[in-house]
Amino acid sequence: MQQIQTISGKNILEGNYTWISPSNIALVKYWGKHGNQMPANPSLSFSLSECFTQSTLEFTKKDKPGGLNIEVELDGVPSASFKEKILTFFNKVINDLPIITEYNFKLKTHNSFPHSSGIASSASGMSALVLCLITLEADTEGYEKGDEFYRRASYFSRIASGSACRSIYGGMVEWGRHTEIPESHDMYAIPYPFEPHPVFNTYCDTILLIHEGAKSLSSSAGHELMHRHPFARQRFEEARHNLSKLVSIIRAGDVEEFGKIVEKEAMMLHALMMCSEPPYVLMKPNTLASIDKIWQYRRETKTPVHFTLDAGANVHVLYPAAHKVEIEQFIAAELAGFCENKKYICDTVGTGPVFLG
Ligand code: PMV
Repeated sequence: MQQIQTISGKNILEGNYTWISPSNIALVKYWGKHGNQMPANPSLSFSLSECFTQSTLEFTKKDKPGGLNIEVELDGVPSASFKEKILTFFNKVINDLPIITEYNFKLKTHNSFPHSSGIASSASGMSALVLCLITLEADTEGYEKGDEFYRRASYFSRIASGSACRSIYGGMVEWGRHTEIPESHDMYAIPYPFEPHPVFNTYCDTILLIHEGAKSLSSSAGHELMHRHPFARQRFEEARHNLSKLVSIIRAGDVEEFGKIVEKEAMMLHALMMCSEPPYVLMKPNTLASIDKIWQYRRETKTPVHFTLDAGANVHVLYPAAHKVEIEQFIAAELAGFCENKKYICDTVGTGPVFLG
């Protein structure tokens, strides 16, 4: 976990903080929630390295605390939709995070990945904002930026946008109470508490950008569908079970078994959507064509390459760095053609958020 030493004075009248925070890809999926963004099942993710949000939060102290005031710019252009999401979040946490009423804010934010890529910016965007806010809180109150700082950042990121709570840490991150994972909690994520086999510290994730444009199902609408889903109970059990199995697989470095579970999780997520009320199909023909090619390549070459999917059409191709050269050749030759404008992003497991000052 990253430690920051700087502790500033207590009464900060104005200033700014900048954080970079990563996107993350779930291996065991969070799909279904209750109460105040509490997950229906535990989930596990890789934090990414190249897909991130960089946000600068400028702040000026008000004469008297009260009200909520934030201006939001995405790549220099005012963003009404992001501002609305932030204000919704602010209203939810106004009592627990009083600092938001004490300052006027301006957020300048930039995503490293294209807006139309179908990669959700909420996890990286919300966690970057929350890290700036908690830094301001820590500096005004004079508390240390150690474990509790990150736990608090994860807690508030969860309220801002569910899986955003996993973006607070690097490497593998777990969120949600699980009897076999010590310290796991529904209210915040934790760095995966066991030593993973080194192969998982270097995993690559090449994201095939299959379809540009807005998704037909927002994740909040998707979580909502699980409230009346005929397979909800079995799904939440299955996710717990898959996470249990992954613990020994990750320790042993069994990439084949790892891939089997990760692919099953991706397929299950989409199967759940397909048999919800109403049903949704978020895969596109080229999503299936890519999956087919990955399976064929794996069968023929015995190379450990697997995939996962988000709640969208993009395909995340997962493989150990030791196979990077041949798999990147395979992707360029066989999979790039399935991507819109042949675009894909070569990412890897990342080390987590970075404070730029
Ligand atoms: O955090 P949300 O509300 O955007 O939901 C995330 C849902 C999935 O990306 C499909 C799964 C996950 O665990 O990230």
